Amino acid sequence: MAETITITDDRTGKTVTVPITDGIFPATAVRELDPNLFIYDPAFMQTASCKSAITYLDGEAGVLRYRGYPIEQLAAKSTYLEVAYLLLNGELPNPQQLSTWTDEVVHHTFIHENMRKRFVDGFHYDAHPMGMLVSSMAALGTFYNDAKDIDDKGSRDKQIMRLIAKMPTLAAMCYRFSLGLPFVYPDNNLSFPANFLNMMWKVGDYEIDPRLERAMDVLFILHADHEQNCGTTAMRVVGSSHADPYSAAAAAAAALYGPAHGGANESAVRMLTEIGSMDNVPAFLEEVRSGRGTRLMGFGHRVYKNFDPRATLIKQTAYDVFEVTGKNPLLDIALKLEETALADPYFIDHKLYPNVDFYSGLIYQALGFPVAMFTVLFAIPRTVGWLAHWQELLADKDQRISRPRQMYVGPDARDYVPMTAR
Ligand code: CMC
Repeated sequence: MAETITITDDRTGKTVTVPITDGIFPATAVRELDPNLFIYDPAFMQTASCKSAITYLDGEAGVLRYRGYPIEQLAAKSTYLEVAYLLLNGELPNPQQLSTWTDEVVHHTFIHENMRKRFVDGFHYDAHPMGMLVSSMAALGTFYNDAKDIDDKGSRDKQIMRLIAKMPTLAAMCYRFSLGLPFVYPDNNLSFPANFLNMMWKVGDYEIDPRLERAMDVLFILHADHEQNCGTTAMRVVGSSHADPYSAAAAAAAALYGPAHGGANESAVRMLTEIGSMDNVPAFLEEVRSGRGTRLMGFGHRVYKNFDPRATLIKQTAYDVFEVTGKNPLLDIALKLEETALADPYFIDHKLYPNVDFYSGLIYQALGFPVAMFTVLFAIPRTVGWLAHWQELLADKDQRISRPRQMYVGPDARDYVPMTAR
């Protein structure tokens, strides 16, 4: 028998029955009861804002799939560019499709010289790379007037490809500017992750270790999408006004910048550095438990209440990287923190487990990235997730401009008081 829910408005006695599909019922039920009745749901805790066929996430079971494919299989066998194709098109590419797609991305990695000479070079010398990236993404859109043709599939596809291809170039450009180093042009003979590493680090005869190149690709795969997180929601909200994808993606990146979202990997490493030694772990956890506001960064998740499958895969990748780079000295503190927290009633009761950001920062640090670059490293691959959702949003006939309602709690109407009477 189909599941339904019946809601009665006690004020009028009116009753509405609607179907429940996969635990979700349409808010039209509320509208039918009374068009002026609204649901108070801060932070969208109980709200499904869209239908999506991109990423499946089961927070209780710790399951994450892109287009039905388990994240574990994609991390073990795929590449970031193949995953990007999958997220955007719904199916894995055949060899010809993958080769064409890779070729297209590779040939759009260059950035207009004015972006570098006039725009990025204009930042203050100590600007945060993520702040630079957010504004550069929006600025990039001004170079492509066709970006505004969002109703044209050809134009949409072109902007998607441009953004995916240019993100590593922009990221490396911002990083090298912050160090006062000359820009390294993309080398389109290299793979997507190798090209990025090359633009970041190339000095003299720089050679990329294939194990680090693979680790970078795995990290890109793991960060590519995560359904309706804060950044993706920002992308959808801005996209719903039919803004161009560069502006919408810049808004998504701005959301990612926050320490409760993508900025958590940076905060996690700063936290481990402040803890300083394994001996200080119990005192730090006591501070977290005390409720004075200290959080264990890289722990907890709105949806995962058991474990974050990305954290498990990232921990494995960390060991692969440390084999090449040597162990990050913060690893022991992280392991001790994880072990102690997982046995602690506070963390057990609150269902707090390591998330994607707990170990990723340790890898980035071992790879030589400064802490301020960590969220940038998240933004590069998440761009494809944002764009896949943007594309899906534009094709969804149910969607209109995002415009939630509010519960007004301010003063009632009152008369303006002249300055002399105040
Ligand atoms: N350390 C200590 N206590 C925590 C933590 C934490 N990391 N996370 C949640 N809690 C407690 C919180 O104090 C609250 O306790 P109480 O009910 O006693 O007041 C309870 O758990 C629920 O917390 P919440 O803030 O209502 O949970 P949320 O679902 O709104 O927040 C979160 C999810 C990820 C923002 C939060 O867990 C957090 O701040 N974690 C640390 C930052 C972090 O690692 N963020 C990365 C998230 S994964 C990647 C991404 O999304 O970008």
